[in-house]
Amino acid sequence: MDLFEYQARDMFEKHGVPVLAGEVATTPQEARTAAERIGARSGGVTVVKAQVKTGGRGKAGGVKVAKTVDEAEQHAEAILGMDIKGHTVHRVMIAQGAQIAEEYYFSILLDRANRSYLAMCSKEGGMDIEQLAVERPEALAKIDVDPNVGIDDAKANEILDAAGFDADESARIAPVLKSLWTVYHDEDATLVEVNPLVKTEAGDIVALDGKVTLDANADFRQPEHAALEDEKAADPLEAAAKEKDLNYVKLDGNVGVIGNGAGLMMSTLDVVAYAGEKYGASPANFLDIGGGASAEVMANGLHIILSDPQVKSVFVNVFGGITACDAVANGIVGALQNLGDEATLPLVVRLDGNNVDEGRRILADFNHPLVTIEESMDGAAAKAAELAAAAN
Ligand SMILES: Nc1ncnc2c1ncn2[C@@H]1O[C@H](COP(=O)(O)OP(=O)(O)OP(=O)(O)O)[C@@H](O)[C@H]1O
Ligand SMILES: [Mg+2]
Repeated sequence: MDLFEYQARDMFEKHGVPVLAGEVATTPQEARTAAERIGARSGGVTVVKAQVKTGGRGKAGGVKVAKTVDEAEQHAEAILGMDIKGHTVHRVMIAQGAQIAEEYYFSILLDRANRSYLAMCSKEGGMDIEQLAVERPEALAKIDVDPNVGIDDAKANEILDAAGFDADESARIAPVLKSLWTVYHDEDATLVEVNPLVKTEAGDIVALDGKVTLDANADFRQPEHAALEDEKAADPLEAAAKEKDLNYVKLDGNVGVIGNGAGLMMSTLDVVAYAGEKYGASPANFLDIGGGASAEVMANGLHIILSDPQVKSVFVNVFGGITACDAVANGIVGALQNLGDEATLPLVVRLDGNNVDEGRRILADFNHPLVTIEESMDGAAAKAAELAAAAN
């Protein structure tokens, strides 16, 4: 999960990273009141910043300096509702104005290829960092960080030295890097990026912008992270699936896909997309029911898939492993009985693996008018695509 800047700011503050005062506002009026409070700390100057989960806000006109509360209100008026790279601005942050002497760049991220963490740092931060990385990569220091050690004094100095800071500057910046490491580590992040990390006219080091990505696999030990989720953006069906511990992802097409296991799921999407080309059909979503395919899990899964109005047919593709095909078949039978009249769309089922004959027999005996049994994955995908197309 990516955080908004204001959430990253609060998280930084919690771990001792120096930040400026900031308040979130959803209306120009709220922005004005926030600017009254916050501007008092910085000679009336505030910065109105669009809160969207995408980069390049400044260049898109989403970051504006205000010298008075009237200006803050006007900027908020202009920025709220703006579209930045497909993201509508629902909130702005009113930030205390900083007197910037220099802008640096710093980030820590998960380097999957090297199975370690990577810190990146540059003396030339600010809005053109992407360009810098391409045109003058030598100006962007990249230093491995051992996950078991993290960023201690020695590592902070190594990073800052590689970026070209002198000993005096390093002594000021190192504590901030260590605090940012604490954010990365303690919050189970996969990315912490500060651009710009600034030196103010007074010589203080402050994080002026923050980007944080949290690792959802660690949610179980980070109960506070649930509150950071953006309800406005969440797909209601994805939320319902999550509540039932099902992995559901919404796509654009018209064939609902239920399967088990990530690998089978991915190849199922491919065959549906391929078979669907002829009919103009493609996957509408996919739902991974995981290892257990009990009637309850199947019913929950089908209920979610059928609640998606774009779905015109459903393809159930299950490979029986520890949960054998007869259990899966009983799951489908139970689910259709549970759903009753709610089940209105054609269902194409392909079972294979452990106890497949018994599984197919159960479904054949059930003889439900909506269910088609197919033996091969390709055949089933073609049938599901054809049925979806026929419904349009
Ligand atoms: N509180 C502030 N006071 C003074 N200047 C600021 C403040 N916040 C941002 N700025 C200036 O605005 C520039 C852009 O701000 P910021 O980095 O937050 O947005 P951005 O880089 O455009 O957005 P993104 O990081 O999403 O690409 C900064 O590089 C800095 O020069
Ligand atoms: Mg930035």
